[in-house]
Amino acid sequence: MALTCWEKLAIVIVAAVGLRMLIRIAVLTWKKLIAPSMGLGIDVATQGKWAVVTGSTDGLGKAFAEALAAKGLDIVLVSRSLEKLENVSTEIKAAYGVSTKIVEADLTEGQPVYAKIAKAVEELEVGVLINNAGTSYDHPEMFTSISEELIARILQLNVAGTTGVTRAVLPGMMERKKGVVINISSTSAAIPSPYLSVYAASKAFVDKLSADLAAEAAPRGVTVQCVLPGPVATKMSKIKKATWMAPTPEKFVEACLKTVGIESRTTGYPPHCLIIGFVNGLKCLCEKGAIWLVARTMLNIRGRALRKKDKNDDDLGKSSSKKEIPIE
Ligand SMILES: NC(=O)c1ccc[n+]([C@@H]2O[C@H](COP(=O)([O-])OP(=O)(O)OC[C@H]3O[C@@H](n4cnc5c(N)ncnc54)[C@H](OP(=O)(O)O)[C@@H]3O)[C@@H](O)[C@H]2O)c1
Repeated sequence: MALTCWEKLAIVIVAAVGLRMLIRIAVLTWKKLIAPSMGLGIDVATQGKWAVVTGSTDGLGKAFAEALAAKGLDIVLVSRSLEKLENVSTEIKAAYGVSTKIVEADLTEGQPVYAKIAKAVEELEVGVLINNAGTSYDHPEMFTSISEELIARILQLNVAGTTGVTRAVLPGMMERKKGVVINISSTSAAIPSPYLSVYAASKAFVDKLSADLAAEAAPRGVTVQCVLPGPVATKMSKIKKATWMAPTPEKFVEACLKTVGIESRTTGYPPHCLIIGFVNGLKCLCEKGAIWLVARTMLNIRGRALRKKDKNDDDLGKSSSKKEIPIE
């Protein structure tokens, strides 16, 4: 039986859409699973002798510093607490036999601190910069209930700090025509994030800055990557027990470093792309439903955090400063 013109057109359209989907799945599988596991990314150790890691005394930053030292890189450790910096420096030197340099710096303090970092690295061949230091809310909260001080701290550290440190370190890399900059954003930048609005917006800035810098830096030999982690078991997330979806910082960093040079924008740890995929997939089908679901989840986390805080206050005999305030 001969096909009509419309039937032929329908077959061509279905075949084209099917082919496009197959190509997309193949590219995703290659970038997220095959290429990283085959070690086809950039070996960060080839980019220069030193790595600068901000927020390197805890969580992801400490894990990045250790992983880079394990690859033989000397490490510039940046964070606020001198005592913690000295402890991490001693641990890294003893475990990996590399050199370290400490920069005690509160990155919320603006230009003088970026100048201090620029000075500290001016004689060093910095091949890797990890812009990791960041801060967030204690728990999800209404924009109108977070303090002005917290808003300022988030913007000064996550937005101005990331920009200022990059400005201090990138010129040297561009001059040498090699280097890797990894900016730590968050999945909250890529999905609706009610009750984390300022944090998520600050991380969306990191995402946008990284994309445009990547285009400027690539012709000058420097790779800029933006990493958007989901939950990782650190002090900031208050997740104590690591799981498949919320790995240890070490496990996260191991996966993340394999993506350098393969993906310029990545969750770093493959299971975390399921969060972005699920929420944004739902958003395509029903935007209000996706926002409702995230908002509900955030309010549940907020409720649990406030109940825990009240319980701790009661145990310590303190009068609860903030009984759980319901949000309708
Ligand atoms: N953990 C997660 O689930 C998760 C998810 C998505 C994105 N992220 C992002 O990943 C990054 C690291 O998070 P994390 O969970 O590893 O945090 P963390 O465990 O709280 O560690 C934060 C680090 O940053 C340093 N730091 C904090 N404020 C600073 C400041 N003003 N100036 C300089 N250093 C400062 C801290 O050291 P000092 O106290 O000594 O200064 C510490 O070394 C952040 O950018 C965060 O937004 C984390």
